Amino acid sequence: MPDKLQIVRTPAALTAAMERWKRAGHRVAFVPTMGALHAGHLALVTEGLRHTDKVAASIFVNPKQFGPTEDLDRYPRDEAGDAAKLAAAGCELLYAPTVATMYPPGFASYVRVAALPDLLCGAARPGHFDGVATVVSKLLAAARADVAVFGEKDWQQLAIIRRMAEDLDLGTTIVGCGIVRDDDGLALSSRNLYLTPDERRRAVALPQALMRAREALQAGGDVAPALAAAERKIAAAGFARIDYCELVDGERLTPLRAVTPGARIMAAAVMGSTRLIDNLAV
Ligand code: PAF
Repeated sequence: MPDKLQIVRTPAALTAAMERWKRAGHRVAFVPTMGALHAGHLALVTEGLRHTDKVAASIFVNPKQFGPTEDLDRYPRDEAGDAAKLAAAGCELLYAPTVATMYPPGFASYVRVAALPDLLCGAARPGHFDGVATVVSKLLAAARADVAVFGEKDWQQLAIIRRMAEDLDLGTTIVGCGIVRDDDGLALSSRNLYLTPDERRRAVALPQALMRAREALQAGGDVAPALAAAERKIAAAGFARIDYCELVDGERLTPLRAVTPGARIMAAAVMGSTRLIDNLAV
């Protein structure tokens, strides 16, 4: 397993390193992240290595995907710790640009995928997915990878990035990687670090509610009562707000009244001051 990680900080250096690999006959995967890496991110590296023989990752806390009242300043940052984890997972190249490199003075171009960004998380986070699409299009343009891997926990993000990569002929195959969960079922997230021990204990109601709703639907139950029961369970655990709890078409993200192939239950709710998301295939 390679334990040496090369770090580059400009798009040109990333492109050059990726092209060097490709000229040497390698297939290359790219894993974009915002750092504060946990086992879910390292699973993205492992997934990349299932498709290619070289993996590069990026760490960039993208200001354009944070709203004015969101956690940009307190978002956890630990480049040295992250670099060690990436190297141990088999990643050989890290792209870690500064904000000034990504968005120099005069930066004025944005990528917006029509329709999908306004649904679900987009309703509570206006502009968030335009920031994601913009940064991911920049990252993929510089990386020119054969494959890019994204986690399924951010299902809406994955759907938007798939649409964008296809629409813009980015030439990179987008691969989704299954959710990694803690032993009690809570989906791993860098934001779980914000939860107090008591909030962390109660947060498990979110995946439990979704699993129970899935069981009810798979047993032939109707959608509305299954979702209402899930919302009651989430609220009873002390979540301060439920942004949504819906059964949707996994690609178009539109609400469903009955289970169809590719349907997913998706939810977002706020525990204390931390917004958590989760989703399950039905
Ligand atoms: O999922 C994330 O960590 C971010 O949204 C991404 C895809 C790295 C873009 O900043």
